[in-house]
Amino acid sequence: MLTREQIQELLQPLTDPETGKSLLELQLIRDIMVKEDRISLSIVCLENGEKERMELEQQVRDLLAEGGANNVHIRLRDATDYERAVLRGESGGDEPNPEQAGKLKGHAAGLEGHELLNENSGVKFIAVASGKGGVGKSTVTVNLAVALARQGKKVGLIDADIYGFSVPDMMGIEEGPIVEEGTIIPVERFGVKVMSMGFFIRENSPVIWRGPMLGKMLRQFFGDVGWGELDYLLLDLPPGTGDVALDVHQMLPHSKEIIVTTPHATAAFVAARAGSMALQTEHEILGVVENMAYYECSSCGTKDYIFGRGGGARLAETLHTELLAQVPLGAPDNHISEPDFSPSVYKADTPTGAIFADIADKLIAKLEQ
Ligand SMILES: Nc1ncnc2c1ncn2[C@@H]1O[C@H](COP(=O)(O)OP(=O)(O)OP(=O)(O)O)[C@@H](O)[C@H]1O
Ligand SMILES: [Mg+2]
Repeated sequence: MLTREQIQELLQPLTDPETGKSLLELQLIRDIMVKEDRISLSIVCLENGEKERMELEQQVRDLLAEGGANNVHIRLRDATDYERAVLRGESGGDEPNPEQAGKLKGHAAGLEGHELLNENSGVKFIAVASGKGGVGKSTVTVNLAVALARQGKKVGLIDADIYGFSVPDMMGIEEGPIVEEGTIIPVERFGVKVMSMGFFIRENSPVIWRGPMLGKMLRQFFGDVGWGELDYLLLDLPPGTGDVALDVHQMLPHSKEIIVTTPHATAAFVAARAGSMALQTEHEILGVVENMAYYECSSCGTKDYIFGRGGGARLAETLHTELLAQVPLGAPDNHISEPDFSPSVYKADTPTGAIFADIADKLIAKLEQ
């Protein structure tokens, strides 16, 4: 079976005729996944013609067949106007493009003045923070957004994680936002309107460029994005308590926060710092979510507290807030062949889906009294 790297090597010769750059490099071939003997990938077509699309698809199939892979699932879609502009625009698309996005409407106004952020806009901001990376902050943000949408709320989600921007992948979003009359239209998935740094940053662009862009992009996310009506806007913050995270905190004076931790004592200790940062910026902490709290044996129902125990409760106590939930270990049992495949979204009728529904209920009760 081919590995992802071998597949990339096989597809390396495919280039964009106009710029001569490799389609992989331009990220026009993406989402390469290998599962058992099956390969799936997405192709974003710069050429709209049916003939060109079919030719490109055939070329991909032929190259992979040379490597011995015949079970190949290809998703094809046209590049959005935005992608086309970025890839073939003046900048050559080497860097993503806050400037270019800024030209869309010609304003990257200070956040202060923006309608969404007006305390009277009625939109409830919830920033999801953690002390360190990898604790499940994005998983919690995504599932909480979906759970709120399942309760009929109008929900937006901003993936403000310049290091990770994993939200599109987690939700199975393959398309980018489209631009209508100078306004960026968020991608909607499971009833959640999503904007991600990932739509604008190439994965291979160095992180060092990303920091300064974050502020600009966030401004644009509030200024140039057509969110429509919203009840809730969730933010997946960059992990940790560094400058970037602090900037975001400060940009959103009315935001409330949820802190995610694992049950381990040191994780909870580090998370407390994220909590105290929230308090410094006068963000009310809505509660703590303890993720990867335990592993429940599917046959006997016994709970194993693999990563320790009590971190979430202790953190909630330290921060004088509530432990909203303990989310067990276990990836969603979704299948790659499902039309709405989304690796990290728990279905409503699963035990973990129910836990997120419960968190959503608690938040609604807290925020809509
Ligand atoms: N409850 C869980 N059970 C099993 N896997 C989980 C659970 N929560 C998260 N994961 C997995 O753990 C990894 C890290 O989760 P996630 O990306 O949500 O964390 P994060 O805090 O946002 O990380 P980062 O700091 O990289 O942004 C992912 O692969 C995710 O699928
Ligand atoms: Mg993340």
